[in-house]
Amino acid sequence: MQQALLLVVAQRAGADPGPGSQVADVDHVASSGFPACLDVGVNSYRRCFEIAYYVGVAPMDVKNSVALVTGANRGLGRHLAQQLLERGAAKVYATARRPELVDLPGVEVLRLDITEPESVAQAAAAAQDVTLLVNNAGITTFADLVTGDKAAIRLELETAFWGTLEMVRAFAPILEANGGGAIVNLNSAMSWVAADRANAYHVAKAAQWALTGGVRLELAPQNTRVAGVYLGMTDTGHQQWWDGPMGDPAVAVRTMLDGLEADQLEIIVDDLAAGAKAALSADPRDFYPAAA
Ligand SMILES: NC(=O)c1ccc[n+]([C@@H]2O[C@H](COP(=O)([O-])OP(=O)(O)OC[C@H]3O[C@@H](n4cnc5c(N)ncnc54)[C@H](OP(=O)(O)O)[C@@H]3O)[C@@H](O)[C@H]2O)c1
Repeated sequence: MQQALLLVVAQRAGADPGPGSQVADVDHVASSGFPACLDVGVNSYRRCFEIAYYVGVAPMDVKNSVALVTGANRGLGRHLAQQLLERGAAKVYATARRPELVDLPGVEVLRLDITEPESVAQAAAAAQDVTLLVNNAGITTFADLVTGDKAAIRLELETAFWGTLEMVRAFAPILEANGGGAIVNLNSAMSWVAADRANAYHVAKAAQWALTGGVRLELAPQNTRVAGVYLGMTDTGHQQWWDGPMGDPAVAVRTMLDGLEADQLEIIVDDLAAGAKAALSADPRDFYPAAA
């Protein structure tokens, strides 16, 4: 297996980035097209951040994985736990904040509320054999940013950002000890678009998307693959308010796991997610006519 190549660029020309690092010529890296190499013009010198391009982080072997799924008592999480077992996972920890609601045969049930650090630490202590962490748990409060309940906006971030980060921090050493493994974050098409009555969710899912990219870089040296999943309206409790067309959660989860096995870093589940991603490069006046 090829090792990850971590290329650290000195913050100042000639600065020593530390033992084991390779110093590259700043101009060479800046012209190489890596978006992480930013010209921020601080103190009139160009500063580049760590750039990691990993040539050989191993793809996830779902078949023999020991998976842990958050929010596995219903919705996409329940499908994920079930389909991971069907694909031959050696063990699936189906976690829930109310474990008595997990009704899947063959899984190991653990109590876990991702917004409680103590609960996360207890789950990590109990599941030292995990090789695949699926950060599925999520909420939506329908809060708007300007007039919505600030506690609801905070809860969105507590769950999607801080809860996911707490899980990543607790399980990164476990994944490393078990050979690297993988993390999959259930992000959203809404990571990439704003929408009335879903803007707190948009902010939280955008933060989860950014977290996914940052953690991917940080965990590459320990050979942990980090993937993000992006999907639009899918028929779960999450979307009870919506009476328009929705995707089938079983099909969505099949696409997610196919993407993971195909070693995709951004698993785009449906057309809504593909359109949302494309919108990032569109003019906001075209994409949000109401705000034009
Ligand atoms: N369905 C969609 O259209 C859609 C689209 C894009 C992205 N997503 C994302 O996909 C993920 C799953 O969504 P879903 O549609 O399956 O939602 P869902 O049916 O509402 O299920 C959400 C799950 O997350 C759990 N949960 C919420 N907060 C938690 C916490 N603090 N700790 C532990 N578990 C917690 C819930 O537990 P309780 O039963 O205790 O509430 C439930 O098991 C979410 O991250 C969501 O944002 C969904």
